[in-house]
Amino acid sequence: MTFTEVVNHRRSIRKFNPDKPIDSEIVKQCIQQATIAPNSSNMQLWEFYHVTSSDKLKKLSNYCFDQSAAETAQQMIVFVVRKDLWRKRAKANLKHINKVTGGKDPKDYNRREKFANTYYTKLIPITYFDFLGIFGWLKYIIYWIIGLFRPIYRQGRKSDMRIVAHKSIGLAAQTFMLSMTDVGYDTCPMEGIDTLRIKKLLNLPFGAEINMVVACGIRVPEGIFGNRFRIPFEEVYKSV
Ligand SMILES: Cc1cc2nc3c(=O)[nH]c(=O)nc-3n(C[C@H](O)[C@H](O)[C@H](O)COP(=O)(O)O)c2cc1C
Repeated sequence: MTFTEVVNHRRSIRKFNPDKPIDSEIVKQCIQQATIAPNSSNMQLWEFYHVTSSDKLKKLSNYCFDQSAAETAQQMIVFVVRKDLWRKRAKANLKHINKVTGGKDPKDYNRREKFANTYYTKLIPITYFDFLGIFGWLKYIIYWIIGLFRPIYRQGRKSDMRIVAHKSIGLAAQTFMLSMTDVGYDTCPMEGIDTLRIKKLLNLPFGAEINMVVACGIRVPEGIFGNRFRIPFEEVYKSV
């Protein structure tokens, strides 16, 4: 399939073929493709839980309210936001910068390298650090005041940073689903789920958040609930 064909072929499939298993190694490769998705500040505040065991699939289906997509899924992926890992990810970025600069002392960095270093040592901590939401609101107010005089980044509050992290993993989920279509597999994204129970099932820490669960398998014709419906393009497309 061409890329356009892949985009058009992908549908949310609500019923998968029970007689057509899918290869977990191929699914794993699609998850790996998902990690190439663009993401905010390359912080990669995500984890992907590939559920293949029948007992966990059964429990997970129950936590997805036994929707037909979950009930008939051969495998499922839980897309998990790990905003709580920001320090670790900032460090990983700094380590990468150090590696690509040949292990130079940061004092000897050129302008671009210095900016990247400052970005992860100063800007990222300012952006991600919070304490009971208080620092977040303080940043929000400061940004708002500065913003009266010049353009400024506005995402200061805890809720803003949650959106930032969920936005990025959403792109990874879409990359995953398109990769699955490309290899002939089908998917259904689901947010009609009990996130708290899923967190417990996966033994996730307090700071982790479930973004969505993607059911995977191979479609049966009745797995597509009708023709694709979209609002007329002219209504959503604004040329400015
Ligand atoms: C974040 C998100 C959550 C969704 N949750 C569910 C869900 O819980 N159950 C379901 O059957 N479909 C779910 N969908 C699928 C949408 O209903 C579907 O994408 C939409 O109707 C358009 O259909 P299409 O994907 O076939 O183009 C979800 C889609 C997204 C992006």
